[in-house]
Amino acid sequence: MTDLEARDRIERLRAEINRHDRLYYVEAKPVIGDRDYDLLYEELLSLERAHPEFADPNSPTQRVSGEITGQFAQVVHDPPMQSLDKTHSFGELEDFDSFVRREIDGFTYSVEPKIDGVSIALRYENGAFVCAATRGNGRIGDDVTANVRTIRSIPLSLPPDAPARLEVRGEIYMTRDGFAKLNEQEEAEGREPFANPRNAAAGSLKQLDPREAARRPLDVVVYNAGSEGCGEFATHTEMIAAFRRWGFPVSPWSKKCADISGVFAAIDELGAMRHDFRFEIDGAVVKIDERRFYDVLGATAHGPRWARAYKYTPERAETVVEGITVQVGRTGVATPVAELRPVELAGSVISRSTLHNADQIARQDVRIGDSVWIVKAGDVIPAIDSVIVEKRTGAEKIFEMPRFCPVCGGELVRLEGEVAVRCVNPACKAQLQRRLEHFAGRNALDIKNLGGRVADILVERGLVSDILDVFSLDWRALAELDVGDDGAPRKFGRNADAMRKSVEAARSLPLDRWLFAVGIPLVGATVAKAIAAEHDTLADLKDSVVLKGVLENDLKKGAERKILPVKVEAAKSVLAFFGSAYGEKFLARLGELGIVPRSRGKAAEGGVLSGKSFVITGSLSRPRPEYEEMIRAAGGTVQSSVSSRTRYLVAGENTGASKTEAAKKHGTEIIDEGKLLEMLAAAVPEKSGSEKSGGEIVQDVLF
Ligand code: IVH
Repeated sequence: MTDLEARDRIERLRAEINRHDRLYYVEAKPVIGDRDYDLLYEELLSLERAHPEFADPNSPTQRVSGEITGQFAQVVHDPPMQSLDKTHSFGELEDFDSFVRREIDGFTYSVEPKIDGVSIALRYENGAFVCAATRGNGRIGDDVTANVRTIRSIPLSLPPDAPARLEVRGEIYMTRDGFAKLNEQEEAEGREPFANPRNAAAGSLKQLDPREAARRPLDVVVYNAGSEGCGEFATHTEMIAAFRRWGFPVSPWSKKCADISGVFAAIDELGAMRHDFRFEIDGAVVKIDERRFYDVLGATAHGPRWARAYKYTPERAETVVEGITVQVGRTGVATPVAELRPVELAGSVISRSTLHNADQIARQDVRIGDSVWIVKAGDVIPAIDSVIVEKRTGAEKIFEMPRFCPVCGGELVRLEGEVAVRCVNPACKAQLQRRLEHFAGRNALDIKNLGGRVADILVERGLVSDILDVFSLDWRALAELDVGDDGAPRKFGRNADAMRKSVEAARSLPLDRWLFAVGIPLVGATVAKAIAAEHDTLADLKDSVVLKGVLENDLKKGAERKILPVKVEAAKSVLAFFGSAYGEKFLARLGELGIVPRSRGKAAEGGVLSGKSFVITGSLSRPRPEYEEMIRAAGGTVQSSVSSRTRYLVAGENTGASKTEAAKKHGTEIIDEGKLLEMLAAAVPEKSGSEKSGGEIVQDVLF
């Protein structure tokens, strides 16, 4: 393939993948299967690798840039991002309508959901996505481009009919299902769960590591004009239609209304289905549809006079806390759970609700026997909203967190910096059951037919008393095992065979999968990958200089996780695990089983220049492509022009003033050739055996 052909193919592939992303993520109407999509993606990846000169930060392969930012740059909003005046009754909306009719004539309304997320401004230059900024104080927000780029429904490039410069505004939200899953995970890893999807979305946008943001189930809806490019639409409805044509996700529901009684009907209609959206909605937004009136109506300090929010009263139900029990999860976290008198709320019967931890119970002062209001956090997870104190009889009992594990009797301890208490007895059955389930999970060792129920049974019958026992199970006996759950016996039978095969396959899985599978507190899949990239085997983790470095780095205030993108607590947790008596036993046993999980090697994406973007200009002592290739091999990216996303401008001799000015404007650091060479020297790979330049991942095959 000639260079020209390659460029052509790359462009076609990018357009094709963008089209499929849009069909899948925005329109929910995919036209090809995962495998065909993967083939296109792989082809693009390999062509881009072979032709780094055609790199583009907005290629669909570049959604996760891997760059870890120390802090967010500031972005100015002009005009400012406003808020909305709120109403709580149709009466207040009638007042609004009277006011508007006094001012203008010949207008209609549009009603749409008020999405409970985080407002965002998205900017495009020459059809390419360049910046995403939060609302901040309205005038100045945070540049969260790297995190927002990971949201697959956000178009990275716009069709040719979109304005050359465009800003649209909307809301980033976390899907309700995604929120529920994320919170489960947060709790399992001993962290405080998010209160609601909005907090979770806000927290995700503020992640310093875009790889973490990429794992969060975020999405977007655009609903408002930004600073540029939206001027020519007569109505809001037309503008939204154009946003949709340009590939942006827009509200799946909206209604044009001739007058205020139409608005009331629309609000009622939306209210009846408000729990059915994949985002939380906390109201309706009523807008004047004809945009020519916006300037006439003007704005107050709160927000525009052409729009009003209408807030629905949240649905809640009253019930009684009949008891508080304690559940032990896989990392030993003991979670108090309210056992509720069953009650219906927003379409389902609720009988239990997590109380998260003792602090939370104390904060809400929930007592056994209390009457309480329950709501659904994120419309999914039932939660106690508040205690109905007036209903107390004096017979209510204050709950005390037990000092010992309700399952194994081991001590419950509160680790430094954690809100949760944990059962630290590695032999605890409840813990073992959940650890075993995790060990066998899809992102862990992917052991077939070993789900929650089978894990419970294996531990209960004493067939497994440590997770590694799955490697010495008696498969014939297992086939005879009764796994029936409703009194009727049911043999495990041929399921045992599939399980055996996947257990065998698990022996040769790479280090990161094993490290995640072990179930060390605070070590999720991302952390496990990052740590595995810097180590060869599990045994290396025990006295790891790299992990210890993370702790030391933290002591020097301000030093930002330079050594490994892993939080201090996680590094501590790993060192503690492998330093413990159990950790040693675990390693020894693994050795006896002949299992030595190996690192996949350090990918370029974990390279020293990972995620750092460069623009090279002026004349250097070596040809420019040579430097470009070296930067990419170290995980960096090379751009053709300086933008807000450019980290370094490498200025050779005779650098033009326009480039350095652009660098100053965007806060890009200007470095010389010497400095670049220094950075590249630090990036020289050590484990060359498992690496190739260009950052291809080569897996060590051991068995
Ligand atoms: S229009 C001048 N439409 O609600 C602001 N806002 O409480 C015009 N919001 O800051 C905004 N859904 O973040 C508009 N369909 C929608 C919305 C919406 C949610 C947010 C927005 C605003 C906040 C005000």
